[in-house]
Amino acid sequence: MPGAIYAEGLVKTFGDVRALDGVDLDVPEGTVLGLLGPNGAGKTTAVRCLTTLLQPDSGRAVVAGIDVLKHPNEVRRSIGLSGQFAAVDEYLTGRENLQMVGQLYQMRAKAAKARAAELLERFNLTDAADRPAKTYSGGMRRRLDLAAALVVSPPVMFMDEPTTGLDPRNRQALWEVIEELVSGGTTLLLTTQYLEEADRLAHDICVVDHGRVIARGTADQLKAQTGGERVEVVVHEPEEITPASEVLRGFGKGEVAAESHTRKLTVPVTGGAKLLAEIIRELDTRGIAIDDIGLRRPTLDDVFISLTGHAAEDAVGDNGEEGEGTTTPGRAQKAQNAQNAEKEAAK
Ligand SMILES: Nc1ncnc2c1ncn2[C@@H]1O[C@H](COP(=O)(O)OP(=O)(O)OP(=O)(O)O)[C@@H](O)[C@H]1O
Ligand SMILES: [Mg+2]
Repeated sequence: MPGAIYAEGLVKTFGDVRALDGVDLDVPEGTVLGLLGPNGAGKTTAVRCLTTLLQPDSGRAVVAGIDVLKHPNEVRRSIGLSGQFAAVDEYLTGRENLQMVGQLYQMRAKAAKARAAELLERFNLTDAADRPAKTYSGGMRRRLDLAAALVVSPPVMFMDEPTTGLDPRNRQALWEVIEELVSGGTTLLLTTQYLEEADRLAHDICVVDHGRVIARGTADQLKAQTGGERVEVVVHEPEEITPASEVLRGFGKGEVAAESHTRKLTVPVTGGAKLLAEIIRELDTRGIAIDDIGLRRPTLDDVFISLTGHAAEDAVGDNGEEGEGTTTPGRAQKAQNAQNAEKEAAK
Protein backbone atom coordinates (compact mmCIF):
# COMPACT_ATOMS: atom_id res chain seq x y z
CA MET A 1 0.00 0.00 0.00
CA PRO A 2 1.42 3.40 -0.92
CA GLY A 3 2.30 5.70 1.97
CA ALA A 4 0.67 9.00 2.91
CA ILE A 5 2.83 10.76 0.33
CA TYR A 6 3.53 8.82 -2.82
CA ALA A 7 5.08 9.86 -6.13
CA GLU A 8 6.05 7.86 -9.15
CA GLY A 9 8.14 9.14 -12.07
CA LEU A 10 7.46 12.83 -11.49
CA VAL A 11 8.83 14.95 -14.32
CA LYS A 12 8.65 18.74 -14.53
CA THR A 13 10.50 20.84 -17.06
CA PHE A 14 10.85 24.60 -17.32
CA GLY A 15 12.11 25.24 -20.87
CA ASP A 16 15.43 23.41 -21.05
CA VAL A 17 15.64 22.79 -17.31
CA ARG A 18 14.49 19.39 -16.13
CA ALA A 19 13.68 20.46 -12.57
CA LEU A 20 12.28 16.99 -11.83
CA ASP A 21 13.60 14.13 -13.88
CA GLY A 22 11.65 11.09 -12.71
CA VAL A 23 11.28 11.34 -8.94
CA ASP A 24 9.81 8.46 -6.91
CA LEU A 25 8.87 8.94 -3.26
CA ASP A 26 7.01 6.88 -0.71
CA VAL A 27 6.51 8.25 2.78
CA PRO A 28 4.82 5.90 5.27
CA GLU A 29 2.05 7.41 7.37
CA GLY A 30 3.23 9.07 10.57
CA THR A 31 6.85 9.44 9.45
CA VAL A 32 9.09 12.29 8.34
CA LEU A 33 10.88 12.31 5.01
CA GLY A 34 13.81 14.71 4.76
CA LEU A 35 14.38 15.91 1.21
CA LEU A 36 17.95 17.11 0.88
CA GLY A 37 19.79 18.52 -2.07
CA PRO A 38 21.92 21.43 -3.22
CA ASN A 39 20.37 24.68 -4.45
CA GLY A 40 18.40 24.12 -7.63
CA ALA A 41 18.16 20.36 -7.08
CA GLY A 42 14.38 20.35 -7.48
CA LYS A 43 13.18 20.23 -3.86
CA THR A 44 10.74 23.13 -4.07
CA THR A 45 9.48 21.93 -7.44
CA ALA A 46 8.73 18.53 -5.90
CA VAL A 47 6.89 20.14 -3.00
CA ARG A 48 4.90 22.36 -5.37
CA CYS A 49 3.89 19.39 -7.54
CA LEU A 50 2.81 17.36 -4.51
CA THR A 51 0.81 20.23 -3.05
CA THR A 52 -1.12 20.95 -6.32
CA LEU A 53 0.60 24.30 -6.95
CA LEU A 54 2.31 22.99 -10.08
CA GLN A 55 1.20 20.45 -12.62
CA PRO A 56 3.91 17.89 -13.42
CA ASP A 57 4.54 17.05 -17.10
CA SER A 58 4.22 13.37 -16.31
CA GLY A 59 4.14 10.96 -13.41
CA ARG A 60 1.69 10.20 -10.67
CA ALA A 61 1.25 11.47 -7.14
CA VAL A 62 -1.06 10.37 -4.36
CA VAL A 63 -1.28 12.35 -1.13
CA ALA A 64 -3.38 11.24 1.85
CA GLY A 65 -4.81 8.55 -0.42
CA ILE A 66 -6.05 11.09 -2.99
CA ASP A 67 -4.79 11.39 -6.56
CA VAL A 68 -3.14 14.82 -6.78
CA LEU A 69 -3.73 15.35 -10.50
CA LYS A 70 -7.32 14.13 -10.53
CA HIS A 71 -8.60 15.69 -7.31
CA PRO A 72 -6.43 18.70 -6.44
CA ASN A 73 -9.15 20.41 -4.38
CA GLU A 74 -9.60 17.41 -2.13
CA VAL A 75 -5.85 17.14 -1.67
CA ARG A 76 -5.73 20.80 -0.63
CA ARG A 77 -8.22 20.10 2.14
CA SER A 78 -6.02 17.32 3.56
CA ILE A 79 -2.65 19.03 3.60
CA GLY A 80 -0.79 21.87 5.25
CA LEU A 81 1.99 23.72 3.48
CA SER A 82 4.66 26.09 4.64
CA GLY A 83 6.49 27.29 1.56
CA GLN A 84 10.10 28.38 1.16
CA PHE A 85 9.04 32.03 1.09
CA ALA A 86 6.70 33.10 3.86
CA ALA A 87 3.18 33.87 2.64
CA VAL A 88 1.55 36.17 5.17
CA ASP A 89 -0.82 39.08 4.72
CA GLU A 90 1.35 42.12 5.35
CA TYR A 91 -1.47 44.41 6.45
CA LEU A 92 -3.05 42.06 8.97
CA THR A 93 -1.57 41.55 12.40
CA GLY A 94 -0.02 38.22 13.32
CA ARG A 95 -3.11 37.30 15.30
CA GLU A 96 -5.48 38.28 12.47
CA ASN A 97 -3.42 36.26 9.98
CA LEU A 98 -3.83 33.12 12.07
CA GLN A 99 -7.51 33.70 12.85
CA MET A 100 -8.19 34.23 9.16
CA VAL A 101 -6.64 30.86 8.31
CA GLY A 102 -8.81 29.19 10.95
CA GLN A 103 -11.90 30.79 9.49
CA LEU A 104 -10.92 29.76 5.96
CA TYR A 105 -10.87 26.22 7.28
CA GLN A 106 -14.34 26.77 8.74
CA MET A 107 -13.32 26.77 12.38
CA ARG A 108 -15.74 28.52 14.74
CA ALA A 109 -14.58 32.07 15.59
CA LYS A 110 -13.95 31.17 19.24
CA ALA A 111 -11.89 28.09 18.36
CA ALA A 112 -9.92 30.03 15.73
CA LYS A 113 -9.15 32.71 18.32
CA ALA A 114 -7.97 30.18 20.88
CA ARG A 115 -5.84 28.31 18.36
CA ALA A 116 -4.26 31.58 17.16
CA ALA A 117 -3.34 32.55 20.72
CA GLU A 118 -1.85 29.13 21.40
CA LEU A 119 0.31 29.21 18.26
CA LEU A 120 1.46 32.78 18.87
CA GLU A 121 2.67 31.64 22.28
CA ARG A 122 4.43 28.55 20.90
CA PHE A 123 6.28 30.53 18.27
CA ASN A 124 7.27 33.36 20.64
CA LEU A 125 5.12 35.90 18.84
CA THR A 126 2.76 36.94 21.64
CA ASP A 127 4.44 40.32 22.15
CA ALA A 128 4.20 41.15 18.46
CA ALA A 129 0.79 39.54 17.95
CA ASP A 130 -1.14 42.76 17.46
CA ARG A 131 1.26 44.51 15.11
CA PRO A 132 0.81 44.34 11.33
CA ALA A 133 2.96 41.58 9.82
CA LYS A 134 4.74 44.14 7.62
CA THR A 135 6.59 45.33 10.73
CA TYR A 136 7.93 41.82 11.46
CA SER A 137 11.55 40.77 11.02
CA GLY A 138 12.41 37.97 8.58
CA GLY A 139 12.53 35.34 11.30
CA MET A 140 9.21 36.53 12.78
CA ARG A 141 7.51 36.31 9.40
CA ARG A 142 8.89 32.83 8.92
CA ARG A 143 7.47 31.78 12.30
CA LEU A 144 4.10 33.34 11.54
CA ASP A 145 3.97 31.46 8.25
CA LEU A 146 4.80 28.19 10.03
CA ALA A 147 2.15 28.88 12.66
CA ALA A 148 -0.37 29.50 9.85
CA ALA A 149 0.44 26.08 8.39
CA LEU A 150 -0.36 24.54 11.77
CA VAL A 151 -3.71 26.24 12.52
CA VAL A 152 -5.57 23.11 11.53
CA SER A 153 -3.55 19.93 12.03
CA PRO A 154 -3.85 18.24 8.66
CA PRO A 155 -2.86 14.58 8.30
CA VAL A 156 -0.12 15.44 5.79
CA MET A 157 2.22 18.43 6.04
CA PHE A 158 4.82 19.86 3.69
CA MET A 159 7.48 22.25 4.93
CA ASP A 160 9.97 23.75 2.52
CA GLU A 161 13.08 24.82 4.46
CA PRO A 162 11.07 25.59 7.60
CA THR A 163 13.98 26.64 9.76
CA THR A 164 16.02 28.68 7.28
CA GLY A 165 16.51 32.08 8.89
CA LEU A 166 15.42 31.05 12.38
CA ASP A 167 17.71 31.67 15.35
CA PRO A 168 18.82 28.60 17.33
CA ARG A 169 16.17 28.98 20.04
CA ASN A 170 13.31 29.25 17.57
CA ARG A 171 14.70 26.42 15.49
CA GLN A 172 14.70 24.24 18.58
CA ALA A 173 11.10 25.31 19.34
CA LEU A 174 10.00 24.34 15.83
CA TRP A 175 11.73 20.96 16.09
CA GLU A 176 9.73 20.28 19.23
CA VAL A 177 6.47 21.28 17.53
CA ILE A 178 7.32 18.98 14.61
CA GLU A 179 8.14 16.06 16.89
CA GLU A 180 4.82 16.50 18.67
CA LEU A 181 2.89 16.65 15.41
CA VAL A 182 4.53 13.49 14.14
CA SER A 183 4.00 11.59 17.36
CA GLY A 184 0.32 12.51 16.93
CA GLY A 185 0.29 10.73 13.54
CA THR A 186 1.03 13.53 11.04
CA THR A 187 3.10 12.61 7.99
CA LEU A 188 5.65 15.25 7.06
CA LEU A 189 7.80 15.99 4.05
CA LEU A 190 10.46 18.48 4.98
CA THR A 191 13.16 20.01 2.83
CA THR A 192 16.23 21.36 4.54
CA GLN A 193 19.79 22.51 4.02
CA TYR A 194 20.58 21.85 7.66
CA LEU A 195 21.82 18.30 7.74
CA GLU A 196 21.69 18.08 11.51
CA GLU A 197 17.98 18.85 11.21
CA ALA A 198 17.43 15.90 8.88
CA ASP A 199 19.55 13.80 11.22
CA ARG A 200 17.35 14.70 14.15
CA LEU A 201 13.86 14.73 12.61
CA ALA A 202 13.74 12.54 9.52
CA HIS A 203 12.99 8.81 9.61
CA ASP A 204 14.10 8.58 6.00
CA ILE A 205 16.17 10.84 3.81
CA CYS A 206 16.13 11.33 0.06
CA VAL A 207 19.04 13.18 -1.50
CA VAL A 208 18.13 14.83 -4.81
CA ASP A 209 20.37 16.46 -7.36
CA HIS A 210 19.51 17.63 -10.88
CA GLY A 211 15.92 16.51 -10.41
CA ARG A 212 16.80 12.91 -9.56
CA VAL A 213 16.95 10.96 -6.32
CA ILE A 214 20.63 10.05 -5.98
CA ALA A 215 20.46 8.32 -2.60
CA ARG A 216 17.92 7.31 -0.03
CA GLY A 217 17.87 5.64 3.36
CA THR A 218 18.03 6.45 7.03
CA ALA A 219 20.69 8.87 8.22
CA ASP A 220 22.65 5.89 9.56
CA GLN A 221 22.40 3.95 6.30
CA LEU A 222 23.60 6.94 4.31
CA LYS A 223 26.49 7.48 6.68
CA ALA A 224 27.48 3.82 6.41
CA GLN A 225 27.47 4.13 2.60
CA THR A 226 29.95 6.97 2.83
CA GLY A 227 32.39 4.54 4.39
CA GLY A 228 33.90 4.12 7.87
CA GLU A 229 35.24 6.68 10.22
CA ARG A 230 37.19 9.86 9.74
CA VAL A 231 40.44 10.86 11.41
CA GLU A 232 40.63 14.56 12.15
CA VAL A 233 43.91 16.24 13.00
CA VAL A 234 44.50 19.86 13.94
CA VAL A 235 48.15 20.76 13.42
CA HIS A 236 49.84 23.40 15.54
CA GLU A 237 51.31 25.51 12.74
CA PRO A 238 49.90 26.29 9.26
CA GLU A 239 53.24 25.15 7.72
CA GLU A 240 52.57 21.67 9.04
CA ILE A 241 49.44 21.18 6.95
CA THR A 242 51.35 19.90 3.92
CA PRO A 243 53.64 17.39 5.69
CA ALA A 244 50.73 16.19 7.87
CA SER A 245 48.62 15.68 4.71
CA GLU A 246 51.33 13.38 3.37
CA VAL A 247 51.27 11.32 6.55
CA LEU A 248 47.48 11.02 6.48
CA ARG A 249 47.47 10.11 2.80
CA GLY A 250 49.60 7.10 3.70
CA PHE A 251 47.08 5.86 6.26
CA GLY A 252 43.78 6.98 4.69
CA LYS A 253 41.27 5.35 2.41
CA GLY A 254 40.44 8.45 0.41
CA GLU A 255 41.33 12.06 -0.17
CA VAL A 256 42.69 14.22 2.60
CA ALA A 257 40.66 17.41 3.05
CA ALA A 258 42.47 20.37 4.57
CA GLU A 259 40.92 23.52 6.00
CA SER A 260 43.61 26.18 6.21
CA HIS A 261 41.97 28.66 8.59
CA THR A 262 41.35 26.01 11.26
CA ARG A 263 44.50 23.97 10.38
CA LYS A 264 42.27 20.91 10.32
CA LEU A 265 42.87 17.84 8.17
CA THR A 266 40.33 15.07 7.67
CA VAL A 267 40.70 11.69 6.01
CA PRO A 268 38.44 8.61 5.79
CA VAL A 269 40.00 5.55 7.41
CA THR A 270 39.35 1.97 8.36
CA GLY A 271 41.16 0.54 11.34
CA GLY A 272 39.90 2.62 14.24
CA ALA A 273 41.82 3.37 17.40
CA LYS A 274 44.86 1.27 16.55
CA LEU A 275 45.39 3.30 13.41
CA LEU A 276 45.02 6.49 15.41
CA ALA A 277 47.95 5.45 17.60
CA GLU A 278 50.04 4.71 14.51
CA ILE A 279 49.24 8.10 13.00
CA ILE A 280 50.21 9.86 16.22
CA ARG A 281 53.55 7.98 16.27
CA GLU A 282 54.28 8.84 12.65
CA LEU A 283 53.46 12.53 13.13
CA ASP A 284 55.68 12.54 16.21
CA THR A 285 58.56 10.86 14.35
CA ARG A 286 58.41 13.59 11.71
CA GLY A 287 58.30 16.31 14.34
CA ILE A 288 54.82 17.54 13.40
CA ALA A 289 53.16 19.15 16.43
CA ILE A 290 49.40 18.68 16.78
CA ASP A 291 46.78 20.48 18.88
CA ASP A 292 44.09 17.83 18.53
CA ILE A 293 43.43 14.47 16.97
CA GLY A 294 40.34 12.29 17.00
CA LEU A 295 38.28 9.63 15.35
CA ARG A 296 34.68 10.39 14.38
CA ARG A 297 31.81 8.78 12.51
CA PRO A 298 30.86 10.34 9.19
CA THR A 299 28.33 13.14 9.50
CA LEU A 300 25.55 13.82 7.00
CA ASP A 301 27.84 16.58 5.75
CA ASP A 302 30.34 13.94 4.65
CA VAL A 303 27.51 12.08 2.94
CA PHE A 304 26.40 15.21 1.17
CA ILE A 305 29.90 16.08 0.00
CA SER A 306 30.64 12.60 -1.25
CA LEU A 307 27.30 12.40 -3.12
CA THR A 308 27.03 15.86 -4.60
CA GLY A 309 30.66 16.93 -4.66
CA HIS A 310 30.17 19.92 -2.38
CA ALA A 311 28.84 20.96 1.00
CA ALA A 312 25.22 21.97 1.52
CA GLU A 313 25.56 25.69 1.07
CA ASP A 314 23.74 26.95 4.12
CA ALA A 315 25.04 24.16 6.31
CA VAL A 316 28.55 25.55 6.19
CA GLY A 317 28.06 28.39 8.67
CA ASP A 318 25.65 26.32 10.69
CA ASN A 319 28.03 23.50 11.30
CA GLY A 320 30.78 25.93 12.05
CA GLU A 321 28.73 27.02 15.06
CA GLU A 322 28.18 23.46 16.12
CA GLY A 323 31.92 22.86 16.02
CA GLU A 324 31.55 19.91 13.65
CA GLY A 325 32.95 21.61 10.61
CA THR A 326 32.76 20.56 7.02
CA THR A 327 35.81 18.93 5.53
CA THR A 328 36.06 21.10 2.47
CA PRO A 329 35.63 24.85 2.34
CA GLY A 330 31.99 25.56 1.55
CA ARG A 331 30.91 27.77 -1.27
CA ALA A 332 30.19 30.65 1.08
CA GLN A 333 33.76 30.48 2.34
CA LYS A 334 35.09 30.25 -1.22
CA ALA A 335 33.05 33.29 -2.21
CA GLN A 336 34.45 35.16 0.79
CA ASN A 337 38.00 34.13 -0.14
CA ALA A 338 37.43 35.30 -3.71
CA GLN A 339 36.13 38.64 -2.44
CA ASN A 340 39.14 39.08 -0.20
CA ALA A 341 41.46 38.26 -3.08
CA GLU A 342 39.71 40.88 -5.23
CA LYS A 343 40.12 43.46 -2.50
CA GLU A 344 43.82 42.60 -2.21
CA ALA A 345 44.25 42.92 -5.99
CA ALA A 346 42.50 46.32 -6.00
CA LYS A 347 44.92 47.76 -3.43
N1 LIG B 1 9.03 28.77 -12.33
C1 LIG B 1 10.21 28.39 -12.81
N2 LIG B 1 10.62 28.78 -14.03
C2 LIG B 1 11.81 28.40 -14.54
N3 LIG B 1 12.68 27.60 -13.89
C3 LIG B 1 12.34 27.18 -12.68
C4 LIG B 1 11.09 27.54 -12.06
N4 LIG B 1 11.03 26.96 -10.85
C5 LIG B 1 12.18 26.29 -10.70
N5 LIG B 1 12.96 26.39 -11.79
C6 LIG B 1 14.27 25.74 -12.00
O1 LIG B 1 14.15 24.38 -11.64
C7 LIG B 1 15.30 23.95 -10.93
C8 LIG B 1 14.89 23.41 -9.56
O2 LIG B 1 14.45 24.49 -8.76
P1 LIG B 1 13.89 24.30 -7.28
O3 LIG B 1 13.35 25.62 -6.84
O4 LIG B 1 12.97 23.16 -7.26
O5 LIG B 1 15.23 23.95 -6.49
P2 LIG B 1 15.46 23.73 -4.92
O6 LIG B 1 16.05 22.38 -4.77
O7 LIG B 1 14.23 24.05 -4.18
O8 LIG B 1 16.60 24.81 -4.62
P3 LIG B 1 16.88 25.74 -3.31
O9 LIG B 1 17.70 24.92 -2.38
O10 LIG B 1 17.70 26.86 -3.88
O11 LIG B 1 15.57 26.19 -2.77
C9 LIG B 1 16.24 25.13 -10.89
O12 LIG B 1 17.15 25.01 -11.96
C10 LIG B 1 15.33 26.31 -11.09
O13 LIG B 1 16.00 27.37 -11.71
MG1 LIG C 1 13.76 25.45 -2.75
